[in-house]
Amino acid sequence: MIDKLTQRRSIRKYTEEAIPEEKLKTVLKAGLLSPTSKNLHPWEFLVVQDRKLLGELADCREMGADMLKGAAAAVIVMADTQINDVWIEDCSIAMSNMHLTAADEGVGSCWIQVRNRNSKKAGVTTEQFIKEMFDIGEKYAVEAILSLGMPAKERGPVVLDEKLWEKVHYGKF
Ligand SMILES: Cc1cc2nc3c(=O)[nH]c(=O)nc-3n(C[C@H](O)[C@H](O)[C@H](O)COP(=O)(O)O)c2cc1C
Repeated sequence: MIDKLTQRRSIRKYTEEAIPEEKLKTVLKAGLLSPTSKNLHPWEFLVVQDRKLLGELADCREMGADMLKGAAAAVIVMADTQINDVWIEDCSIAMSNMHLTAADEGVGSCWIQVRNRNSKKAGVTTEQFIKEMFDIGEKYAVEAILSLGMPAKERGPVVLDEKLWEKVHYGKF
């Protein structure tokens, strides 16, 4: 497990290749297998594979989403907020599990923040931009997007900064 966590990196540059359908399905399986509070599964996953739409979706953020222009797919993670008040945690776990599984499958991926961010369109939040683009109903809140593609180049492993151990507290803070 630690080896896999070390190898996981955010990948923002992709080749022109399509993601093999089985690999994409495995990534989605990881989302569906994610634990949720009270086992209520408030999330929904919207898979976008049309490259023209992916290019347009890149404008959902002022910056930080440009990798979508070269992506082969994206998974928009949203939730019905009426199902559970802790939908953010549920969506985050699904995002994390899909990001890690993509890495394990040799598929590059990157988390794109949606909540509390603005689009390139003046006065339009990232969430409003996405909801309008895909006709997503009022009761849903969009948490994040996972961009996906076959990696254009490998990135080195994550190196554990020994100083981070200062963030671990035993017994008292
Ligand atoms: C909650 C969260 C939001 C993130 N949002 C973005 C984003 O909007 N755009 C982006 O390019 N990367 C985003 N990232 C990726 C981080 O920048 C990246 O994980 C961090 O720099 C460490 O690099 P690594 O993932 O390669 O180890 C996000 C990551 C997390 C966990």
